[in-house]
Amino acid sequence: MKNITIEALNKPFDIIIDNIASDKSISHRCAMFSLLSDKPSKVKNFLRGEDTMDSLRIAQSLGASIEDNGDTIIITPPETLSEPDNILDCGNAGTGMRLYAGLLAGTPGSFVLTGDKYLRNRPMKRVADPLRTIGASIDGREDGNKAPLHIRGAKLQSFKYESPIDSAQVKSALILAALQGDGKSYYKEELLSRDHTERMLNGMGAHISTNSDGWIEIEPLNKKLNPLNITVPTDPSSAFFFAVAAAITPNAKVTLKNLTLNPTRIEAYKVLEKMGAKVSYIESENKYEPIGDIVVEYAELKAVEVSENIAWLIDELPALSIAMAKASGVSKVSNAKELRVKESDRIASVVNNLKLCGVGYKEYEDGYEVIGGAKLKKATINSYGDHRIAMSFAIAGLECGMDLEDTGCIDTSFPNFFEILESLRG
Ligand code: S3P
Repeated sequence: MKNITIEALNKPFDIIIDNIASDKSISHRCAMFSLLSDKPSKVKNFLRGEDTMDSLRIAQSLGASIEDNGDTIIITPPETLSEPDNILDCGNAGTGMRLYAGLLAGTPGSFVLTGDKYLRNRPMKRVADPLRTIGASIDGREDGNKAPLHIRGAKLQSFKYESPIDSAQVKSALILAALQGDGKSYYKEELLSRDHTERMLNGMGAHISTNSDGWIEIEPLNKKLNPLNITVPTDPSSAFFFAVAAAITPNAKVTLKNLTLNPTRIEAYKVLEKMGAKVSYIESENKYEPIGDIVVEYAELKAVEVSENIAWLIDELPALSIAMAKASGVSKVSNAKELRVKESDRIASVVNNLKLCGVGYKEYEDGYEVIGGAKLKKATINSYGDHRIAMSFAIAGLECGMDLEDTGCIDTSFPNFFEILESLRG
């Protein structure tokens, strides 16, 4: 239990932040996708968070050799993936578990994927069911819904699958399985979820495209892919905590450097803009993804209703709820029942903690209302073991001070979060 007290800041800052954590989604994929090549992948700025280091260790357990020179990690894949002599521990990472499930479903051998107590409670049927339909052998508690998952690699068939949820984790697991299928596969989702998998795999030479009816078409691999040569951009979801810090602190401004500006990842900044904050985007390069800076400046915020593009906001809604608490009027989040199955039940963990801070709310099955305009009150916050809850309420603490309980989870995605938070004090 790592408890931390945040002191109120209550003064403006104008700061350029260039050391925010690297992108978690892209780093996971670097560890995994490097296994699909026959040459070493070079990854600069790999996220050294617990979640992504777990994915890298799993790549190693599957036979990859890892050379880490501090700046760049070189991942040399084995000729064929080996059967590990122990369980594969994904830690807290749903991305790690679900994507590896797709990759290993078609890999000869026996594999056990497990994780921490939070991950072992999250739903895995969303990947296990469609993978089983195409020939995968996956078992686990509750008929394959809960880890530990046991996967015995099998020959996979091609498929046409329309997903009932907009989830990049489900999509990516199925794409990784499709690459090993016996023909062309088709996948559809209602709203395009984050598309790093498609961009990165195509950059490595795979053939993944979207047809005019919105189906993603995936050609199976007939040869190994080219290696990755990538500098992982900054994680816009991690940077967003500091965007909210600037948006709620009178006269503050923050420049967030080298983020992926992938449209599926920056929707929360657009919502903040809609609430009145001044936000600008400066694209500087485009490799696999558009990359650049985002500048956020304080303005008096007004309430907002969020019911669309939820998959593009799913990781930022906890931090947005802090901006909602400071906005004038009643904000509402709906269509967001996916929040209930994240690292914690994020609807319950957001509203329970807002209540402790003296903020009025209404809870719904698929979202919540936040009654804005309150002066926040210092409270003892329960992180529920969820990094994004801990960091969101740390930002709220800039106004009123905050006691945060169980903050160790922040190391899963953003190990230097508190160091950057302190730097706002000048
Ligand atoms: C992720 C996808 C999202 C997101 C998670 C990372 C990914 O989950 O919440 O933090 O890297 O694919 P879903 O796509 O399952 O909603």
